[in-house]
Amino acid sequence: MERLAEDISSIDWDLYERQKKALRGAKEAELGAIEAPNLIPPSAQPHEGREDALAAGEEALRKGQVAIITVAGGQASRLGFDGPKGAFPLGEISGASLFQMFAGQIRRLRQVYSCALPWVIQTGPGNHLETIAFFEKRNYFGLGSKTIDFVCQGTLPALAPNGDLLLSAPDRLFRNPDGHGGVYRALKVSGTIPRLRAAGISTLFYCQVDNPLVWMADPIFIGHHLLAKARMSVKVVEKTDPAEKVGLVVTDGERNRCVEYSDISEELQAECSDDGGLRFRAGNIAIHAFDLDFAEEMAEASLLLHLARKQVLALPNGGLVAEERDGIKFETFVFDALPLAEKAVVQMADRSLEFAPVKNRSGVDSIQTSKEALAARSARWLEESGLTSEATSAGGAIELQAGLCLGPEDLRSRAEFITQTCAGRLVKVSR
Ligand code: UD1
Repeated sequence: MERLAEDISSIDWDLYERQKKALRGAKEAELGAIEAPNLIPPSAQPHEGREDALAAGEEALRKGQVAIITVAGGQASRLGFDGPKGAFPLGEISGASLFQMFAGQIRRLRQVYSCALPWVIQTGPGNHLETIAFFEKRNYFGLGSKTIDFVCQGTLPALAPNGDLLLSAPDRLFRNPDGHGGVYRALKVSGTIPRLRAAGISTLFYCQVDNPLVWMADPIFIGHHLLAKARMSVKVVEKTDPAEKVGLVVTDGERNRCVEYSDISEELQAECSDDGGLRFRAGNIAIHAFDLDFAEEMAEASLLLHLARKQVLALPNGGLVAEERDGIKFETFVFDALPLAEKAVVQMADRSLEFAPVKNRSGVDSIQTSKEALAARSARWLEESGLTSEATSAGGAIELQAGLCLGPEDLRSRAEFITQTCAGRLVKVSR
């Protein structure tokens, strides 16, 4: 029973009271009157302040003030993949995993900006060891094991419908991962925040493991965030289909917030503005920039509790063998910190260049749609860089090797080293 005593002593009783309140249906925050937020145009498009933002972002990168954090703690259940989602082999020709694609971007950023650019990967209790083993086996993709931190997110106790705590075994409380909002606490309790601070980091670039198109450490986005003295910023894509299942970034006039599509009425989501587009069009793509101090403050903040009623494998009352029963799981979301930021920048992203998540096995946001988006972006970059490519002229799938370039300009700068393999379809550097 020592383990149970340990589990019980680790309970945050104030939080438990909030969980029970949420369970009784008490809303922690009302939506109130909302408006569309101010939007900065996409980084790839000319816009006011772009050059200053680029200079500020590049300076922060060169000075080694930026770190990257990727959340990868979820289970790839919708994808039906047995393993950490980041291990999914998405490369059409190379079979490169999502992690390898990100690692390539980071390697190239480190070369271009001659900076340390630490990478923090948030794992979950269900995939922590497997994720580390995946990297170990691949020699950390050449990044150096000491430059990557694997931080495991925490858990929250699940409750029975009457508010009681549940047991998963006679000497264990039933707990589930605390959602990606757990990243703040995980960064703090693992000692990562002080370590990053000591290394001179003041800004975090945040992304999800499911989006291979993410513009890693986009200097223009980081620059806008820094110049505005924002504490947390967010990238969004233009939502054109009212039914698209993305969270929406909105404002109450003073603070921004992200509202899940399920929390806004269909009528409001379908409302149009004067230009004919949707009134609420800022679709959250879960790319953020954080001030490191703000991330640390959020570790102590009472982020909203989101609850999900599920069947859980827990002990029945008085029983000793776990069985399926009604339970309520609680999670926190990273974007619920947005309204707590006194200042936040909301920047549009060009969907075709920056957002094609792999969520499902087929249909929307699937392996196929994500591969197609990657191939289309590769073809566009090859064309914009002015490089002639057998691959583009031959049609069919095309892939740029992970880490080959950061964009079309960078691709042009590497022209003399570029070769093609695999019937001219995989474009890579020769040395
Ligand atoms: C999420 C956002 C949605 C946004 C969309 C963009 C939520 C609730 N919604 O949706 O607003 O439009 O992404 O793609 O997040 N993760 C953890 N720990 C967890 C749970 C998740 O690290 O406990 C990570 C996953 O590994 C993944 C990311 O968080 O990288 C997103 O999680 P997921 O549950 O797939 O979010 P979506 O519902 O797709």
